[in-house]
Amino acid sequence: MSAKDAPGWWKSAVIYQVYPRSFADSDGDGVGDIGGIRARLGHLRDLGVDAIWMSPWYPSPMADAGYDVADFRDIDPVFGSLAEAEALIEEAHAAGIRMIVDIVPNHISSEHPWFQAALASPSAKERDYFWFRPGKDGKMPTNWTGEFGGTTWTQAPDGDWYLHLFTPEQPDLNWEHPVVREEFENILRFWFDRGVDGIRIDSAALLFKDAALPEVTEGEPHPFHDLDAVHDVYRAWRRVADEYEGRALIGEVWMPEVDRFTNYLRPDELHAAFNFDFLGCAWDPALMRACIDRTLEAHAAVGAPPTWVLSNHDVTRHVTRYGRADTTFSFDNNLDGTPVDLELGTRRARAAALLSLSLPGSAYVYQGEELGLWENEGIPAEAIQDPMYARRGHTRDGCRVPLPWSADEPPFGFTAGEPWLPQPAEWKDRTVQAQTGDPSSMLELYRSAMRARRAEPGLHQPAMTWLPLGDDVLAYTRGPDFACVLNLSGTPIALPSEATPLLVSGPLEDGGLLPPDTAAWLRF
Ligand code: GLC
Repeated sequence: MSAKDAPGWWKSAVIYQVYPRSFADSDGDGVGDIGGIRARLGHLRDLGVDAIWMSPWYPSPMADAGYDVADFRDIDPVFGSLAEAEALIEEAHAAGIRMIVDIVPNHISSEHPWFQAALASPSAKERDYFWFRPGKDGKMPTNWTGEFGGTTWTQAPDGDWYLHLFTPEQPDLNWEHPVVREEFENILRFWFDRGVDGIRIDSAALLFKDAALPEVTEGEPHPFHDLDAVHDVYRAWRRVADEYEGRALIGEVWMPEVDRFTNYLRPDELHAAFNFDFLGCAWDPALMRACIDRTLEAHAAVGAPPTWVLSNHDVTRHVTRYGRADTTFSFDNNLDGTPVDLELGTRRARAAALLSLSLPGSAYVYQGEELGLWENEGIPAEAIQDPMYARRGHTRDGCRVPLPWSADEPPFGFTAGEPWLPQPAEWKDRTVQAQTGDPSSMLELYRSAMRARRAEPGLHQPAMTWLPLGDDVLAYTRGPDFACVLNLSGTPIALPSEATPLLVSGPLEDGGLLPPDTAAWLRF
């Protein structure tokens, strides 16, 4: 595929996140791999996605499911080989699907040769690629709390402490060091040279630390979140991306302040960033409308495309989130034992699909969301693998469970062996096989929506205009012929009489009324 085919493809793409451990397993070891993805590429082609974002597939001791990278220029044997990755990139392109790889610049694996050299000798040049510091009065240099909870320093055998914002197996890199900067620019080139169309940047706002190592103090600048120096790095990365044609940089930027967030999207920095404001928004008309307005306004101000994200590999699946009476998003919300109404969650998730796929910008689909999967909250403690669990008592494994493809019982065609995390037996109705051809299924809804997204001229227009159908109804037009209406009120509503439903997330009631928690795409 030539990137020249569609300049700015990322501005309106549907980007599907493949979590390789859990997509499809080709060799029976219970862990997904590139062979599995290649064999199932047809699923993504039939779904109609524009691009795949591949979570890390590099050699890794898997202390954080691959987000602890030991070598950015190869593939972990559990997933396959570099030659297979290259074949996948080629096959995806042949199927009209672009490829995005995940780069993790904040930290690397403690098994990476740089860190091994740094540990071996305090005078090694690699020592300066990290944050080694003497302790304070025999204790660690700061009392910072890590991103997974717990401390951020581990003592090396020689007595110095090294910084890790995540697990001790993920030592933080020192981005002040020119060798670190140069290495990552070359890693970007390595993957761009292999034809990848974009880079997802992990923990993009963390890279720099205040070298004075102050404690975190309310009202004071944060010592390691969003330091201004990070923007120089992304300006340099943008220059690298611009050496090629049609390559996109997409940031994982968790940032409550909108103006700090959009700094990352200035014209000489990243092309796009994940909209966690939308992902975290409660199922509430006023909050959702405000979130959409805030998103559109902030992105317009910097000329960047908005993104719409409902789920990913770090958060509770949205069927489960939306199935709670209080849908306010909380990172830990599968801990508290709040009852979940999966039928309600599914109804809302169907409506949310029509919302996120019809707002202007690009939309992300996390694998399994097209099947209506819910969070597996029943993983036994001894099977949990997420390192966050030991530190915070919360696990992200419930959203990382292997996909159900076929058959009536686990492993549902995912593997010939034992899946690395258990799948709920109730997923027998949510397999690709069971849903294919069933017009009422989540899968067919996604397929139809993506087809319509390509076909409807209105959905290619940059703008949207709110339609005044009441405070509890989110309704907007895209161009003169297309509208989306989402009923967030408690009662059925009438649709505009001059419009014809093109696609509905659930059956209309007598008289063509749109039920609560249901969305419709309309053509005028
Ligand atoms: C990002 C990833 C997450 C990982 C963390 C550390 O937030 O999405 O899965 O644990 O960074 O790399």
